[in-house]
Amino acid sequence: MKKTILITGGAGFIGSHVVRRFVNNYPGYLVVNADKLTYAGNLENLTDIDTKKNYLFEKIDIVDKQSVLDLFKKYSFDGIIHLAAESHVDRSITGPDEFVFTNIVGTVNLLNAALNSWKNAPEGKLFYHISTDEVYGSLGKEGLFTEQTAYDPKSPYSASKASSDHMVRAYNHTFGIPVVISNCSNNYGPNQFPEKLIPLAINNIKNNKPIPVYGKGENIRDWLYVEDHASAIDLIFHHGKVGETYNIGGNNEWKNIDLILLLCRIMDKKINQSAGTSEKLITYVKDRPGHDLRYAIDSSKLQKELGWSPIPEFADGLEKTVEWYLTNLKWLERVLSGDYGKYYDFMYSGK
Ligand code: NAD
Ligand code: TYD
Repeated sequence: MKKTILITGGAGFIGSHVVRRFVNNYPGYLVVNADKLTYAGNLENLTDIDTKKNYLFEKIDIVDKQSVLDLFKKYSFDGIIHLAAESHVDRSITGPDEFVFTNIVGTVNLLNAALNSWKNAPEGKLFYHISTDEVYGSLGKEGLFTEQTAYDPKSPYSASKASSDHMVRAYNHTFGIPVVISNCSNNYGPNQFPEKLIPLAINNIKNNKPIPVYGKGENIRDWLYVEDHASAIDLIFHHGKVGETYNIGGNNEWKNIDLILLLCRIMDKKINQSAGTSEKLITYVKDRPGHDLRYAIDSSKLQKELGWSPIPEFADGLEKTVEWYLTNLKWLERVLSGDYGKYYDFMYSGK
C-alpha cells in the first residue's frame, strides 16, 4: 500500500461516505476507520466495502488517550481525516459534557499522537480536521461566512468544534504539524441519523407522525448533499494547502419551513398520497434555546483554487435522499430502536 490513512468517525453519516470514496477510489491506500460506535456510528453504513483488502475497522474511543497512542503505534499513518465528533446541537444543549470530551479532548489526543509519530519527519503528512460553519456563529439577513469571518460560536456543539479548530491551528503554529481545516454547511443525504431535520421529517411523514418545526420555521440553513462534501474532502486532502482553511457550502439557502414544504410535496408523490397530505403533519413546537438564525457559506475559495463545485440541484438531491430512506426502511428501523427511541421520547414528549 502506498499510504495509510486514518479516518475517524467513519461509521457515522459523513464519515461513511468519505470512507467509501477513499476505499473505492484509492486502492493503493490502506484506509483505517477508527470509531467508537456511539448511537450515531453504524457499521451497516459500510457493508458494501467492508470486505475490501484496503479497508480496516478499529473500534476506539478517541477520548481514551492510551487507545489513541496504541493505534498510532500499530499503524504508521501518512494522513488523518478527523470526523469523529458529537454532532447534534440539541444533544449539546441537554448534555454538553460529551461534546467537550469527544470534540475537544479527543481532537487533542489525536494531535498529540500525530505529533509524537511525525515529529522527526512531518513532511508529506497531513492532519485534516473536519469542522462546521457553525463556529462562525449566526448571520443576520445579509452576508456570508468567509474563511476570514471571526469565530463566534453560540451553542455548546459549535463552541466545542471552534475550540478543536483552535487547537488544530495552534498545533500547526507551535509544533509545525501539517494541518488543513474545512468548515462545511449542513449536510443531507443517505445514512444520516434520524435526529437531524431532514431524515427525522422523512421518517415522521412515513409514519404519519407530527413534523416538529422549531419556533416559526424561519431559521435558514445552507444545505449540501453529503457526497459533495465527500468530494470536497477528497480534493482538499490531496490538493489543499497546508495551514489553510476552506469553507464548503451548497450556495443553497432554505428557510426550514420552505424546506419542509418541499419535502412534504416530494413525500406525497413518493408514497402515493394526495397532494397536501404530509403538510398537515407540520407542527410548530417550542424553539431551540439560542437557535442560530441563519448560516450561509461563501465557498468561492474552494471553487476557484481547487475547482470544486456541488452537483445535484436541491430538489433532486432531496428526492434521491427520500428514495434512499424509503428503500432502506430496515436501516431506519434498526437505528430507531434502542438508544435513539429513548432520546426521541425525551426530546419530543410534552411539546
Ligand atoms: P455523526 O454524528 O453522524 O457521526 C459521528 C461519528 O463519530 C459516529 O460514527 C460516532 O460513533 C463517532 N464518534 C463519536 N464519538 C466518538 C469518540 N469519542 N471516539 C470515536 N468515535 C466517535 O456526525 P456527522 O454528521 O457525520 O459529522 C461528521 C463530522 O462532520 C463532525 O466532525 C461534524 O462536526 C462535521 N460536520 C457535520 C455536518 C453535518 O451537517 N452533519 C456539517 C459540517 C461539519
Ligand atoms: P439540524 O438538522 O439539527 O442541524 P443544525 O442544528 O446543525 O443546523 O437542524 C436544522 C434546522 O432545523 C435547525 O434550524 C433546527 C431545525 N429543526 C427543527 O425545526 N425541527 C427539528 O425537529 C430539528 C431536529 C431541527
